[in-house]
Formats: sequence, C-alpha cells, structure tokens
Amino acid sequence: MRIAMIGTGYVGLVSGACFADFGHHVTCVDKDAGKIEALRRGEIPIFEPGLDALVASNVKARRLDFTTDLTGPVADADAVFIAVGTPSRRGDGHADLTYVYSAAREIAAALSGFTVVVTKSTVPVGTGDEVERLIREANPSADVVVASNPEFLREGAAIRDFKFPDRIVVGTDDERGRKVLGEVYRPLSLNQAPLMYTARRTAELIKYAANAFLATKITFINEIADLSEKVGADVQQVARGIGLDNRIGSKFLHAGPGFGGSCFPKDTRALVKIAQDHDVQLRIVEAVLGVNDNRKRAMARKVSNAAGNLRGKTVAVLGLTFKPDTDDMREAPSIPLVTGLLDMGAKVRAHDPVGMEQAKKELPDIEYCDDPYECVKGADAMVIVTEWVQFRALDLDRIKGAMAQPVVVDLRNIYRADDMAAHGFIYESVGRRG
Ligand code: UGA
Repeated sequence: MRIAMIGTGYVGLVSGACFADFGHHVTCVDKDAGKIEALRRGEIPIFEPGLDALVASNVKARRLDFTTDLTGPVADADAVFIAVGTPSRRGDGHADLTYVYSAAREIAAALSGFTVVVTKSTVPVGTGDEVERLIREANPSADVVVASNPEFLREGAAIRDFKFPDRIVVGTDDERGRKVLGEVYRPLSLNQAPLMYTARRTAELIKYAANAFLATKITFINEIADLSEKVGADVQQVARGIGLDNRIGSKFLHAGPGFGGSCFPKDTRALVKIAQDHDVQLRIVEAVLGVNDNRKRAMARKVSNAAGNLRGKTVAVLGLTFKPDTDDMREAPSIPLVTGLLDMGAKVRAHDPVGMEQAKKELPDIEYCDDPYECVKGADAMVIVTEWVQFRALDLDRIKGAMAQPVVVDLRNIYRADDMAAHGFIYESVGRRG
C-alpha cells in the first residue's frame, strides 16, 4: 500500500513510521519546512522512546520519506491520512478544525485514482461529513471515500500502543474503503488486534467517549483518594480491590495530581461542547473537568499543609512533564501547582529528566537544576509530581542530608510510608496514610 500522512506531530509521525515498518510505503508531509529538513537529517522533533530508531531504519529501507509538498504523495496514495493538530479553539473550548479543513482542500486538488481519505486527528462528530463535502466541492470527479480511523496511542508508549492496539476502529460504510483500510492494518491481525468497522460518526464518537471515560476513571479515583485520606483508608488498595472486578478493570485507577496532557483536557472539553451543540448535557464529563481543574492547584495546598507556611521557603519539584517518558508540558499538573506555590510565597527549584526546555516556556520564574540531588539542596519540601523512573530509587539518605526540612510530598505514590518514616522523613502521599 502507498500511504500519504499529512501532519508530522505525535500521531502522524508515529503512525507513519509504524505503517512503514509494516511494509507499506509512507510519505510524511508537513508544511513546516524546518521540521521536514530536520526529519530528513534523522532528527526527531518529539521525545518518544524508540521513535528515532524506527524512523531511521524505515528511511534506510526506503519505505519512509518526508516532504513539504503533498501533491505527488497524495496522487500516488491508496490511503491519505489526515493527522494534523486539532487544538482547543481560543475562548470557547471547541476543537479548532482549521488545519483539518485546509488539508482536506489541498488533498482534494491532488487526488488521482481511487483514494481513501482518512481522518486520524481527533475530530468532532460530523467532521468527516464536512471533509467529504469540501473534497467533493473542490474536486467533483474525485473517486474518494472519506473514513474515520481514530488513534488510541499514549505518549511515551506510542510505538507499542500502535503495534499492539486493543482494537482498531475503522469508520466508513463503504466496502471499498473498508477493504483498503483492512489491507493497511492487515499486519496487525498477526497481533490478534480486533478490527472494528463502524459508521463514520460512530468512530468519531468512540474516540471522544474513550478519552472521556478514562478521564472519568482517573477523576473518580482521585476523589476516592481524598476520601481515603479523611477516613484512614488506602486508595491504592481500594483501586486494586475494585480493579480486580473485571467489569471495572485495574488500569487508569492511579490517584495523582489530576490528569493533563494534550488529549484528555482538550478532548473532554470538546466533547462537552459537541453535546451542548446537540442539546445534550454531559453532566458527568462536565463535573470531571471541573474537579480536575481544581485538583491541580489544590496540590499546592497539600504541600503547604505538609511543610507549613511556605512564605520564604524553598520547594524542590521533581518532574514537570504531564507524565514520564515525554517532554510534553501541555496542561501538565506541574504548571498550576508551581504557580500555586509561587503565589504562596515559596521559592521553587525544579528538575525534570527531559522536559526542562519545554518547561522554561511555561514556568520562566523558577530555578532549574540538573539533577534531583542538586534540586533538593536547602529545600524545605520535596514534591514528586511526575513518576519518572529516575525518581523511584533515589538515595534517600543523600536527599535527607541535602534538605533543610525532611518533608516529602509524593503526588504519585511511588514511595512507601513506612520506608520514608524509617528514613526520618515527614511524608505525605495521595489517598494513603502518610
Ligand atoms: C491519552 C489516552 O490514554 C490514549 O489512549 C489516547 O490515544 C491519547 O490520550 C490521545 O487522545 O491521543 P496520553 O495523553 O498520551 O494518552 O497519556 P495517558 O497515559 O493517558 O495519561 C494522561 C494523563 O492522565 C496523565 O497526566 C497521567 O498522569 C494521568 N493518569 C493516567 C493518572 O493520573 N492516573 C492514571 O491511572 C492514568
């Protein structure tokens, strides 16, 4: 199969490289000439474990290339994937579809022969209809099927998620379209990944419903964590106790500082807006959004409860990115947390293994340190915000020796209360005693 991938962001680049690795020929297209030049030199614009090697080996095998001009690749393609960004629109929380629609218009002009145009970007229900309308308007003779094929990969685990998905959703009622996408994903049938065919609008809604459900699960356990603290229960055991029930499932039940990232906050907001446009109120999802927003800043109060009045004190923050194994700072819980600490008069020193360059754009007024031990020097409290593997086995005696006050607030529950007490720390975590 020949594939054109429009957009070399997270989803586009990972999907393009993985499709090439399946044996297809893939051309990744992006308007950003600097990005394309860098990709041609083998430089990967995002931090994603394994992606540089995957790109390099497929470029070498001549199955993957990069260009700024979609004309040739689209004309040659059996399937054209639209994987451009759909950020939250300023002001109203709707998804901004400018990039999707301008890609559709450009694709329309370049189509030649039977082609399946597939939206992989997360788009509101009905966007496929508009993409099809735009293409037919611009190129009435085009032999085209427009399908939806949402992506469920996670940052930091993107390649594994792409190659071993729980399911693949293909949204089109058209048999020719289903056949082409069945062929594109055939290599995954070896991994027993179920391919689910649905109507286009259903596929579009599956993506939003999945993210909103996962965000709800996290928010639910975060509230149970708050209650656990008050009643003296252990939220990790509660999560395990409910998660072993197959109807609930154990994943996405880790209590923490609230969800962040480029997807859950944006997609839950967009889903609420989509529903409002159809006169439906998604009260549960609305509540999830509100609870999660409040939670991020509330984490600063958790620190002051543990360390006392923060005015003039120094707080060491370990981990800034919204999750480990990424340099992504979008909607990271660290941003409202650190802002809250600064508002309380604290001085903040921070360390992140990969995300400090990105973090400096969001949080310019704090001190950045090269490693955790330097970060905690003279600190009155240490806060673990992101569960990087580097923070899971710190030399606790060295940490304690470097701090002014041995207060640790572990927002990811990566240490045990009894161990920390044995090392002489005042230790607070989430939803557990201590
Ligand atoms: C999420 C979904 O998991 C993917 O399936 C989806 O494809 C992707 O969004 C997307 O729409 O593109 P991602 O945002 O990369 O992936 O990261 P997650 O691992 O889902 O984490 C999201 C946030 O939830 C993080 O802030 C994480 O710390 C938090 N989280 C996750 C918890 O607080 N507790 C958990 O148990 C799990």
